[in-house]
Amino acid sequence: MNKHIVMLPGDGIGQEVSKAAKQVLEAVAERYNHTFTFETHEIGGAAIDSQGTPLPEDTVAACKKSDAILLGAVGGPKWDQLPGHMRPEKGLLGIRKKMGLFANLRPIKGFKQLLHASPLKPEVVEGSDLLIVRELTGGLYFGEPSERRNNGQEVVDTLAYTRSEIERIVDQAFQSAMVRRKHLTSVDKANVLESSRMWREVVEEKKHDYPEVTVDHMLVDAAAMKLITNPASFDVIVTENMFGDILSDEASVLTGSLGMLPSASIRSDGVGLYEPVHGSAPDIAGENKANPLAAILSTAMMLRHSFQMEEEADQVETAVQEVLAAKFHTADLSLENGVKVTGSEMAAKVIEQISSNDTTK
Ligand code: NAD
Ligand code: IPM
Ligand code: MN
Repeated sequence: MNKHIVMLPGDGIGQEVSKAAKQVLEAVAERYNHTFTFETHEIGGAAIDSQGTPLPEDTVAACKKSDAILLGAVGGPKWDQLPGHMRPEKGLLGIRKKMGLFANLRPIKGFKQLLHASPLKPEVVEGSDLLIVRELTGGLYFGEPSERRNNGQEVVDTLAYTRSEIERIVDQAFQSAMVRRKHLTSVDKANVLESSRMWREVVEEKKHDYPEVTVDHMLVDAAAMKLITNPASFDVIVTENMFGDILSDEASVLTGSLGMLPSASIRSDGVGLYEPVHGSAPDIAGENKANPLAAILSTAMMLRHSFQMEEEADQVETAVQEVLAAKFHTADLSLENGVKVTGSEMAAKVIEQISSNDTTK
């Protein structure tokens, strides 16, 4: 199969992990006789520096023509003092919005090889396998107005949703639940926010379309606690943009590191932007220390969701498991009797597995 992939490395470790992800895609193409072509474009701070905007037009145009997009990460201290509309993060929010990618799927599955890498007790982590379905193009992140008023003495951010925006993300979450363990937890703050009360209404209405799915509602504060005290009690979580952002970093603790979490930002027709959950990690950028597995596992999501390449996706995930089983790990993970490797060495280990598992050679 021929596929055209747009790479948006972005800033900091985004550059390092997307290079690793691209090499993995190349290894997959070689093994399975696909042709993947790549086109790299700027976004975030890198785009601000060279083109004066976090989301250049040619980046958007290339994404619209691609079969799938892979993003590294954006942001960093260099651009933190810029006004809101000029920040690197605006580039990422902009491409999600312009592409209509309203659903962000964030699977969190503790690899058994990493059970002891989490600061949580292994018996708490064991058996946890959940999916956060985060609304991605509405809510607090996109509210208008969002501004300072009254000579800078007052500030407003707005949390707005239309009913149809809630309906489509809730539908997506029910569909995800149907192919998993058929348990959906809707997380909100319905004891305080009107938007959450509408969210609950929509979930209650939609559940009649999916009678096999068990539905419960949980307030976000309690959910944050339950996520690390009883993570195995969750299957699919559906929630508002900002709640989903916060809960997913929290949930990464189950896997031992934020550097392990992949994600897919999708819309209903299969177009997708694949992005690790972590950021540009300025504290370790340029040191070849970053864990590339979140980006590599994001390529598996790309292969599965955008290209329907199930076997290839499984192959990437299996390769990661094998490398972890051999106790290779980057500095963010601590494995007893493990072998610490750099980010690029980690990518090479995964690629070695993908190539050596090739039974056709
Ligand atoms: P971060 O996710 O970049 O880093 C948080 C911590 O996790 C740091 O200690 C970092 O070293 C570590 N970490 C993250 N990814 C890692 C990896 N792959 N391997 C090893 N360690 C890893 O979050 P932050 O420090 O709060 O934010 C830094 C910048 O990144 C900010 O500008 C923020 O806006 C941006 N950011 C971007 C994205 C994105 O582009 N998707 C996501 C989150 C944050
Ligand atoms: C993420 C990031 C982004 C978000 C930032 C960088 C805008 O934290 O993808 O989780 O909050 O969506
Ligand atoms: Mn985040």
